[in-house]
Amino acid sequence: MIHYLGTPVLETERIILRKLELSDAQCVFDHWLSDDRVMDNLIKGAHKSVSETIERVKEIVKNYESQEFCYWGMELKTSGELIGAIDLFHFDGLTDNCEVGYSIGYKWWNKGYGTEALKAVIDFGFRRMNVHKISAAHNVDNPASGKIMFKNGMELEGTIKHMIRNAKHQYKDCALYGLLQEEYRKKGK
Ligand SMILES: CC(C)(COP(=O)(O)OP(=O)(O)OC[C@H]1O[C@@H](n2cnc3c(N)ncnc32)[C@H](O)[C@@H]1OP(=O)(O)O)[C@@H](O)C(=O)NCCC(=O)NCCS
Repeated sequence: MIHYLGTPVLETERIILRKLELSDAQCVFDHWLSDDRVMDNLIKGAHKSVSETIERVKEIVKNYESQEFCYWGMELKTSGELIGAIDLFHFDGLTDNCEVGYSIGYKWWNKGYGTEALKAVIDFGFRRMNVHKISAAHNVDNPASGKIMFKNGMELEGTIKHMIRNAKHQYKDCALYGLLQEEYRKKGK
């Protein structure tokens, strides 16, 4: 059974994972949600105005009232900058499985932050929440996402043709990755 713990603060070597606040909305918009380079890799497209982001952040803040909501902002310890977000979602009470998603502002790509944040969230999901399996899918033309899953022990399970259609109405083939709690514990990650 999953032990829902809400969104507690998690810490990695360089990042604090914490709840978003309403006052973060402008940074969320400026750093990733308004940027096509980030958002083209997701189903929903980039926000055109900060008011859309304010509504989204309000929704996230409201959702923190539920213990079943796990959505972290990634804050750099050194500068205090909010560089991205990561969440566990689609909790399935029948299987105790869930999915993971993440976005990082373009300026902070390829510095290892995605790998570091995903590691902390996978560990939290398995060891503290007792999730059975964590899965994620990425567009095949977005290999960096698959790379951070692979580096965290997630395994490629297959590719689904035209699994999604993005905001620009482009169909995308997606690679599915997954990791079982028992595999995670065996690997001693
Ligand atoms: C996916 C994402 C979170 C990765 O974050 P990140 O902080 O850049 O990730 P890391 O720096 O930890 O690792 C990225 C890895 O991908 C590799 N990579 C980057 N571009 C690549 C490419 N075109 N082909 C192959 N590998 C690539 C990097 O070299 C790095 O691997 P390495 O550490 O072995 O060198 C970030 O790119 C992002 O926010 N993308 C847009 C949103 C998104 O795709 N979300 C996920 C949807 S499934």
